[in-house]
Amino acid sequence: MIKVIVPATSANLGVGYDCLGLALDEYATVYFEEIATGLEIIGSEEAYCNEDNLIYQAFLKGMQYLQKNCTGLRITMDTNIPYTRGLGSSATCIVAGLAGANALVGSPLNKYELFDLATQMEGHPDNIAPAIFGGLCVSFMEEGKPNMIRYGIKKDLLFVTLIPDYEVNTKAAREVLPNQMSYADATYQMGRCAALAKAMEIGNPLILRKACTDKMQEPYRKHLIPQYEEVKKLCQQQDMITMFISGSGSTMIALTQEETDAKKLIEQIQMLYPTWDCRLLHATYDG
Ligand code: HSE
Repeated sequence: MIKVIVPATSANLGVGYDCLGLALDEYATVYFEEIATGLEIIGSEEAYCNEDNLIYQAFLKGMQYLQKNCTGLRITMDTNIPYTRGLGSSATCIVAGLAGANALVGSPLNKYELFDLATQMEGHPDNIAPAIFGGLCVSFMEEGKPNMIRYGIKKDLLFVTLIPDYEVNTKAAREVLPNQMSYADATYQMGRCAALAKAMEIGNPLILRKACTDKMQEPYRKHLIPQYEEVKKLCQQQDMITMFISGSGSTMIALTQEETDAKKLIEQIQMLYPTWDCRLLHATYDG
């Protein structure tokens, strides 16, 4: 039996639309086992227990790429990563399926080949890179192929993960974005994105706060999360370093170095929105 462990991820981090992503210490563990015939999926919601299952689709893509066959497959999943909430669940599933296929046939593919195949399926590399390599990844596309460089993340940064009880559809959240931005806005954005990545690595709260002020996607998406402004205000009152939408939402992540403040924020959010799922997560550097 093959066992694959893939982390949840958070993309964009405010100013890094489609290029910044980091791995969090929430994991999906997926087991792959060859069986005589058919497909069995255990541990997933019933709606996903069929051939459309993304882990299975990625597994098939991996097998096809490797020109291998598998007569039957049992996939057993153990995951606490919420679906369609902006914590990279689709990237996690894609990476798990491809890694499962690769491991089943003796691991001929390296991480960069998996990165390429997974990005083809996902369409953008920002969640895929940290799901495979861990840490904070800055990704970019080069003639249709993804590349990336990895930064460290200062260990004392805490990621207070506020998960609403509703989905935001990524496709819809991409459609609300404009097609163009001005040179002035691009300059604004590039400086902040580069500063944010370094500030995450060295843990500089002042630069993190100033750099995490996005003009590229959050202003167009925040209305998809009706509580965004209220949560942002609470984060400011609780002296969080900053708060950003995780991926395309609906999850929002507040950043702090103080565990007591993180816990206070979670208490307040849970009082206001009792059906939300709030977690205190850390970045993880292991791929
Ligand atoms: N970078 C992506 C987006 C992440 O913001 O649309 C969500 O998959």
